Amino acid sequence: MEDRTVSDLSRYGPWAVIAGGSEGVGAEFAYQLASAGLNLVLIARKSAPLKATADSCRARGVEVRTHALDLVSTDAVERIAAATSDIEIGLLIYNAGANTCSEHFLDGELAEFQRVIDLNIGTMLGLVRHFGRPMRDRRRGGILMVGSMSGYLGSMRHTVYGGVKAFGRIFAEGLWLELREYNVDVLELVLGVTRTPAMERVGLNFDVPGMRVANPADVAREGLEHLPHGPVHIADGNGEDVARRNGADRAKIVLGTHKFMEKLMGPH
Ligand SMILES: NC(=O)c1ccc[n+]([C@@H]2O[C@H](COP(=O)([O-])OP(=O)(O)OC[C@H]3O[C@@H](n4cnc5c(N)ncnc54)[C@H](OP(=O)(O)O)[C@@H]3O)[C@@H](O)[C@H]2O)c1
Repeated sequence: MEDRTVSDLSRYGPWAVIAGGSEGVGAEFAYQLASAGLNLVLIARKSAPLKATADSCRARGVEVRTHALDLVSTDAVERIAAATSDIEIGLLIYNAGANTCSEHFLDGELAEFQRVIDLNIGTMLGLVRHFGRPMRDRRRGGILMVGSMSGYLGSMRHTVYGGVKAFGRIFAEGLWLELREYNVDVLELVLGVTRTPAMERVGLNFDVPGMRVANPADVAREGLEHLPHGPVHIADGNGEDVARRNGADRAKIVLGTHKFMEKLMGPH
């Protein structure tokens, strides 16, 4: 396999869009791409972290545009398309997507679950189509989507989130097949527990004994390094755990992981 390092990223320029590019893994993608000389379009809801990340990237000598918008809004794709119509996007990173509705499925509001679906499926598909077509025409580019180990099995309070993350991985595999002859790289970067501001805010227990907790900078670097080697990369050495989650005895596997999830998320 060809060994490509972060310094080879110029082929994904001159501009990259990062949906969810203000904090955590998204901010680390931004810093690493800026250091490699790519101009950036950063999208997130909160203006202050967006501005702070953009300023740090500009200090590395690149141009940065910021757009404070909710990716769940119905006109998100249209607004991003309009805001980027005058520049060439060689890389799309779809990072935003952490779970926002942890209710039991029968008790939560359907509209709240729909937001999880819209963020992880609807808007992602819209942006991939919008930016993917010109990449295919140019026969050059990259599409990196951030997934989760939750997408490998069902778990309580992640009924919908686990489902959309499974969708993302299968979608990435198909898209990788579709675009490989056009030299457009597609990667689903599968994360395990990662110490991001969003997860700190929801009070995830990072201290479960024996649990691996990844660092945003490390997994972002892994993602960029593996982008030419899709369709899926499981970050932070979690490959064995993922293989175990794919086993045939679903009840045993789902119940076993349920015990771990209770420790991670707290009792329901
Ligand atoms: N952290 C983990 O333990 C973990 C584990 C497995 C997988 N993942 C995956 O890793 C990715 C990043 O997760 P994360 O923990 O950093 O949390 P996140 O809530 O997905 O936040 C990541 C970035 O996306 C932005 N964002 C989130 N929702 C948005 C929305 N509706 N519209 C526009 N921007 C939005 C955030 O800024 P704003 O909040 O200001 O909008 C932030 O810049 C997700 O896809 C998640 O599923 C994370």
